[in-house]
Amino acid sequence: MLGDQKVLFSGMQATGNLTLGNYLGALKNWVNISDEYKTFFCVVDEHSITVRQDPAELRRRARALLMLYIAAGLDPEKNCIYYQSHVSGHAELAWILNCYTYMGELQRMTQFKDKAAKHADNINAGLFTYPVLMAADILLYQADVVPVGVDQKQHLELTRDIAERFNSIYGDVFTIPEIYLGKVGRKIMSLQDPSKKMSKSDENPNGSIYLMDDKDTIIRKFKRAVTDNEACVRYNDNQPGIKNLIDIYCACKGISTEDTEKEFDGKGYGDFKIAVGEAVAAELIPLQERFHELEQNKDYVDKIIKDNAEQASYFANKTLRKVQKKVGFPERIK
Ligand code: TYM
Repeated sequence: MLGDQKVLFSGMQATGNLTLGNYLGALKNWVNISDEYKTFFCVVDEHSITVRQDPAELRRRARALLMLYIAAGLDPEKNCIYYQSHVSGHAELAWILNCYTYMGELQRMTQFKDKAAKHADNINAGLFTYPVLMAADILLYQADVVPVGVDQKQHLELTRDIAERFNSIYGDVFTIPEIYLGKVGRKIMSLQDPSKKMSKSDENPNGSIYLMDDKDTIIRKFKRAVTDNEACVRYNDNQPGIKNLIDIYCACKGISTEDTEKEFDGKGYGDFKIAVGEAVAAELIPLQERFHELEQNKDYVDKIIKDNAEQASYFANKTLRKVQKKVGFPERIK
């Protein structure tokens, strides 16, 4: 809590091209619920270097991501939108929390196992302690809720465990955060293989819709989406491709799965796929237009970057000072 307001924290990595999964699983929910909270939306650039990055490219992507947050509808006057690397408290708290996290806990993280397998030539310590930095991100702002997609659930559970462990030693220092999963869109699957989640790092570009895809590309990718031979738009686990398309349609239109089944009752997959493509384009094209406007508005974006980092630092330092005192670091001389 900050004053009488509940706190919401979330973030995204500035790596790869953002997909419709990131948008429907996270960003769109952020916009929908942001009014109810004091919010912090972070571009987590420090997390990104657990995998090798081209420096110029990382800088470019980080700025693009920050602008996408705004383009998606988050007003930077009301929401604190900033870069992780501009607030040193994230790394400082992460160090402290490292000392309250067990190797065994980190070894169980599925994202670590997946990334270690993918980047076998660079299994660095940062990749291993990545979830501790994520815990620091969240706990630094005393977040009550963290809206994420289902793939981040394990990291959120670890964050809660670390916070509870710390509190059990030192008293009520951290708020225990709740995970917030949207009703629909919590796990968007690949259009080419509905058993795999839609991912920035998919080698097959037809499996993912990227937020900057133009309308023709979006429609084309949906036309090619893998479905089945049932010829029936029905929401069930035996038709994973169709289920995923229904999820996407519902998330974009803000309607239920039953409404979608009714709307396409007796219609073929061809019609349905085009309708899903149109619904996605109707979400993404205005977002792209706002993004291009922001690109033209350098001074405005720069000011947001500066002001919001100061605001975030202010709140982060409050928690950090408290934690430093609890663990026994000497007080600063004023
Ligand atoms: P990242 O950057 O991989 O993904 C950003 C957000 O998008 C969600 N997401 C999806 N949701 C539904 N379907 C999909 N196919 C899909 N793919 C991605 C993710 O669940 C996430 O919410 N570790 C985090 C970033 C992070 C963070 C944090 C998040 C760092 N610190 C603190 C919340 C709070 C990550 O790598 O997300």
